[in-house]
Amino acid sequence: MKGLILSGGKGTRMRPITHTAAKQLLPVANKPILFYGIEALKDAGIYDIGIIISPETGEDVKAAAGDGDRWGIRITYILQEQPLGLAHAVKTARGFLADAPFVMYLGDNLIKDGVAPLVDRFKGSKVDAFILLKEVTNPSAFGVAQLNGDGRILCLEEKPARPKSNLALVGVYLFNPNIHRAIDEIKPSRRGELEITDAIQRLIDTGHHVDSHVLTSWWLDTGKKDDMLEANRVVLDEMTDVCMDGQIDETTRLSGRVHVGKGTKLSHCTVRGPAVIGDNCVLEHSYVGPFTSIGDNAQVGHAEIEHSILRENCRIVDFHGRIEDSLIGANVELTRSHLKPVAYRLMIGDDSKVEVV
Ligand code: TTP
Repeated sequence: MKGLILSGGKGTRMRPITHTAAKQLLPVANKPILFYGIEALKDAGIYDIGIIISPETGEDVKAAAGDGDRWGIRITYILQEQPLGLAHAVKTARGFLADAPFVMYLGDNLIKDGVAPLVDRFKGSKVDAFILLKEVTNPSAFGVAQLNGDGRILCLEEKPARPKSNLALVGVYLFNPNIHRAIDEIKPSRRGELEITDAIQRLIDTGHHVDSHVLTSWWLDTGKKDDMLEANRVVLDEMTDVCMDGQIDETTRLSGRVHVGKGTKLSHCTVRGPAVIGDNCVLEHSYVGPFTSIGDNAQVGHAEIEHSILRENCRIVDFHGRIEDSLIGANVELTRSHLKPVAYRLMIGDDSKVEVV
């Protein structure tokens, strides 16, 4: 069986972060989201993985994941010139997939229990497609499935205005090669994309066997800022250990599950886990609260931060007020100015959001 991870797309809902970075490389508990998908496939015994990339962020994805050696797998990169839909991505990967059955995994998704049990179930069955569903409170934001009384899928709709159920399609799908013919037979939707839901519906309409499983454990789709923070919260919450590879002075207090990376120094700090602090950071006179991830090479001084993600190389020094519920990109500086007049002086990219008190 092969794996296909979709790591192209536009990432419009995560701007401005995605003006310069691939959404799939954003860190959850200091690890790129994409790596969770790669590891989930590997854990399911899938060693031949294709990754869909876009012209804008593909080189960064390649640089981050490499040839797969570090996981003992083989990665093939497949360029999708334009993000014309999930089914279009499968079409683009046709040469790589050939006649193999495959798991398609959306590169910005995380699922708690991985995919190994699903792969086993799929391999032992004769189904053409196997999809995962999850009850959600906002089904209009997803592909939605309607089931009959005994769990068979009646129909699928992509982001319906009036959803027929609260069962969203989770971003992991298992297919045998019959999906390719179904994709060849569908047309772009109203939003101009080749929808995977339409292709699966086509399989159903042409008498193929599509099975589903409703997940009860968590599934996270990290399309927007708050989804990222929630993913970070859930993953950190599952962290069970404490790891100290850095140095702390005698006035620093760490409580709960905290990871401190190599070369990192903390003095006069309070850190309440679950939290992770990357490598080569310097934190002084600061508070780091629960559900916070701080990337490598951060400098944090006289600052307070909680329930937030800071990417690498950030400098937060003498910043007034506590930072909460924030997603902060790489190389960002937040500092206090002593210049007069007293004022906010900002250089903020397009589509940024700043809330002040
Ligand atoms: P989406 O989150 O549906 O799309 P997007 O990444 O373009 O984001 P936005 O809606 O904010 O503009 O995509 C799910 C995953 O699939 C994500 O990892 C990107 C990837 N993808 C592709 O690789 N090719 C595509 O054509 C599309 C639509 C998505």
